[in-house]
Amino acid sequence: MRKWILAVAMIAAVPVAANAADAEAGKTVFNKCKACHKVDKNAVGPHLGGVVGRKAASVPDYNYSAALKKSGITWDEASLDKWLQGPSKDVPGTKMIFPGLKEQADRDNLIAYLKTLKAP
Ligand code: HEC
Repeated sequence: MRKWILAVAMIAAVPVAANAADAEAGKTVFNKCKACHKVDKNAVGPHLGGVVGRKAASVPDYNYSAALKKSGITWDEASLDKWLQGPSKDVPGTKMIFPGLKEQADRDNLIAYLKTLKAP
């Protein structure tokens, strides 16, 4: 009886898993960010450890653009999704020079991955 319930639960879970944002896939998308970002320390861009939930331009020892400093953004799923479609469209004057990620699935997976990163 228990096995039977487990089988049903597994079948029911499959389509959900296929649609859900995939942090593992997002880790691969993150390769596109690594030229400028590290998780644990600042590089060309600010470190991204714990970025989800963080206020924009709030890493104290990073020299942000004036544009991002006055953006008033807090990084959550929605604001990151918008940013990652085209940072300079989202915040004109930002110094993050990145064309954007066209695919919704790439953005979703990447954001799921960013959520797993702890603040250094
Ligand atoms: C060419 C270098 C470059 C690449 C590639 C790049 N970034 Fe950035 N990123 C920056 C810079 C520079 C800033 C600081 C922007 C500013 O001060 O206006 C930044 C800022 C950010 C911020 C705001 C952080 C904060 O503390 O407010 C986030 C979030 C971010 N980047 C995510 C990403 C992600 C995710 C990717 C990969 C899809 C990526 N970036 C790719 C250079 C880059």
